[in-house]
Amino acid sequence: MIDQPFEVRRGNRATLLPQAEALLSGQRDLVANAANLSALLYHALDDVNWVGFYFLRRERLIVGPFQGKPACVEIPLGRGVCGTAAATHRVQRVADVHAFPGHIACDIDSRSEIVLPLLDGGVLRGVLDLDSPSPGRFGEEDQAVLVEIVELFVRSVDW
Ligand code: SME
Repeated sequence: MIDQPFEVRRGNRATLLPQAEALLSGQRDLVANAANLSALLYHALDDVNWVGFYFLRRERLIVGPFQGKPACVEIPLGRGVCGTAAATHRVQRVADVHAFPGHIACDIDSRSEIVLPLLDGGVLRGVLDLDSPSPGRFGEEDQAVLVEIVELFVRSVDW
């Protein structure tokens, strides 16, 4: 939990995980932690235009805390990149969203995207979605650190 100004350090695995741990420790409120984590990722990562959460509500994904332009409120399971990650329980890393069948364009600037399912002991809680205006922005190393961050997030909140 932070109770003083938090200076975001830009970077990747070495800096991101400790910052996320510091942000999420001592607080288990879902909205508080999702809001702060989306802000951390948005400001710490280069070249992203949307970072945020969709939560599973009555078999649909409903937008949660995020940073970026206003987004689609509701996404059916199986639709778009987010819906595919949710339906398959698998990370979707899309180098060119224009080539992804059913991609939902919320921000026309988005060119590549990574969506990670939030799995709580195998139970789907939602997804974390990151968009970039650059094609192929997200690589394997990004995916690896984001998987760790998502696992940390899932065990840091009361669902
Ligand atoms: N592009 C996403 C929709 C969500 S927004 O990008 C915020 C998709 O195809 O699932």
